[in-house]
Amino acid sequence: EDQQHLEHRKDLQFPSGGTVRRCRVLQWDSEEPVPRAELLSRVAGVRGLLCLLSDRIDREVLDAAGPDLKVISTMSVGFDHLALDEIKKRGIRVGYTPDVLTDATAELSVALLLSACRRLPEAAEQVRSGGWTTWKPLWMCGYGLSDSTVGIIGLGRIGQAVARRLKPFGVRKFLYTGSGPKPETAAEFGAEFVPLTRLAEESDFVVVTCALTPATQGMCNKDFFSRMKKTSVFVNTSRGTVVNQEDLYNALAQGQIAAAGLDVTTPEPLPTDHPLLSLKNCVILPHIGSATYATRNTMAVLAANNLLAGLRGEPMPHELKL
Ligand code: GLV
Ligand code: GLV
Repeated sequence: EDQQHLEHRKDLQFPSGGTVRRCRVLQWDSEEPVPRAELLSRVAGVRGLLCLLSDRIDREVLDAAGPDLKVISTMSVGFDHLALDEIKKRGIRVGYTPDVLTDATAELSVALLLSACRRLPEAAEQVRSGGWTTWKPLWMCGYGLSDSTVGIIGLGRIGQAVARRLKPFGVRKFLYTGSGPKPETAAEFGAEFVPLTRLAEESDFVVVTCALTPATQGMCNKDFFSRMKKTSVFVNTSRGTVVNQEDLYNALAQGQIAAAGLDVTTPEPLPTDHPLLSLKNCVILPHIGSATYATRNTMAVLAANNLLAGLRGEPMPHELKL
């Protein structure tokens, strides 16, 4: 929109309220993340920045961008990769992509939960490896949702959508934790607000769908896992750092809990020789919560519209309150 500072790589046109406006777009045209050095050099002088959750936007990037940077738009619902204090201090506005990925992420959470509790990857591997010799009464048994208690850590948009999908499986009781009770939201599921310790003790399934914040970082730790039942299953589709991974490894290896399903880890990608990958009772996915074609497309369009609205000084379709 303001062309003077932007390096000219590509001219894109966007429809805007009946008129067509132009802005110069410097695009990293690859599925691979932009190398840090490239980002730091190319960001200089831009007014807007559209980034992914794999791009750490910290003080170094903001300094490299300089004072013209007015808008950051991330193609993600999570924003823990953005240094919000620094961003706020500089008066930069931030757009993100909630809502449009709720269904896809809730669906993946349910798929991961079922994969972990019914041991799908392990069982499928038995078919390939010749481990399937005959039908045996207790072979490949797991735990089902029928008559279970499900604990949701973070009953936000995604947590609610997970509960809504799990309810028809015959869940008996929902528990939840968060920054405070949400009686109106919880009423749909008859969900009870409980302390984290009680959620750990009583849940047959724990699903983590909260945002990563200083309050939630490392929240699922040794104490948490030691309170869980031997028969319970832990699922995380939020951010890896909510979990103390060493404590989770020990709980899984020592049979303190039955299984885990993780769509997020620390770091990402997880090194292929990581101890968690040696465990049969841990299903790990490569952060694919929102990965349907339709959802990623919608996220991209929303991220672009957030950016354009921000550049025009208009309200963004989804702006983060800083
Ligand atoms: C995915 O993890 C997102 O934050 O969009
Ligand atoms: C399962 O296939 C059964 O017949 O019980």
